[in-house]
Amino acid sequence: MLNDADKRAVARRFAAAATRYDASARVQARIAAAMADRLAAFDLPVGARVLEIGCGTGLLTAAALPRLPGVGRWLATDIAPGMVAACRGRLSADTRLSVAAMDGEGLATSGPFDLICSTLALQWFPDAGGALARWRSLLRPGGFLCVATLGVDTFAEWRAALAAVGASGAGPAYPDAATLSRWLGPGGRVERQDFVEHHADARHFLLSLRGIGADYAPTRLSASTLRQAMRNLDAARPVDITYDVRWLTLRAP
Ligand SMILES: C[S@@+](CC[C@H](N)C(=O)[O-])C[C@H]1O[C@@H](n2cnc3c(N)ncnc32)[C@H](O)[C@@H]1O
Repeated sequence: MLNDADKRAVARRFAAAATRYDASARVQARIAAAMADRLAAFDLPVGARVLEIGCGTGLLTAAALPRLPGVGRWLATDIAPGMVAACRGRLSADTRLSVAAMDGEGLATSGPFDLICSTLALQWFPDAGGALARWRSLLRPGGFLCVATLGVDTFAEWRAALAAVGASGAGPAYPDAATLSRWLGPGGRVERQDFVEHHADARHFLLSLRGIGADYAPTRLSASTLRQAMRNLDAARPVDITYDVRWLTLRAP
């Protein structure tokens, strides 16, 4: 479980990675495209007001906004100022968009919104359940919440390689379906969709995490433990890494 100091460290990593993020964000781009497909199927009112949380460089914003002509205003937010600048630069021509630096756990904005969406940010929140409750409270009656986050089997291959060297607690811990359902609350739906990313070897996998700024871990491994875990992962080269993506959706009553 991350704490508030971890959160600040996470924000610094992502801010520093903003200019190189897109070059490594292969699976993130696929998940953003899948989210855009979902959003395009929602029955949004004309002039809809949308809040995006943890927008990063704007992969989801760019995939979804052109497909949603009825949207009136889209507020994209991220805790990392470098990400906010990258998102603004990517989509400055769309006058429906505004981009702001904001902590998704302490949103400095008021609702109601017709849609709140977020891809691959919630897993970085110290109090994800509290954040989801707050997001629900910002929905207009009939408004949609659609969130993609990571589930318990994410990085199963890396986790097994770590466990084999006695470092099972070193990888990130992600919630199971029951926990996510509890956090999401009544009327919510949790679905699983696996995305597999192929890497030449363990080093390439770890460099891709560093490339997007997602390499923060509260527990640091010794160099020898890390090398051994990488050798374990490389035993099955090329390396397939599973992203156990959980779609959290609900419609406000
Ligand atoms: C893996 S990136 C995903 C970015 C984008 N949604 C995508 O799919 O490419 C995670 C993003 O969440 C942001 N983030 C992490 N913690 C956050 C928080 N507490 N509030 C808002 N954004 C946060 C990071 O700065 C980063 O841009």
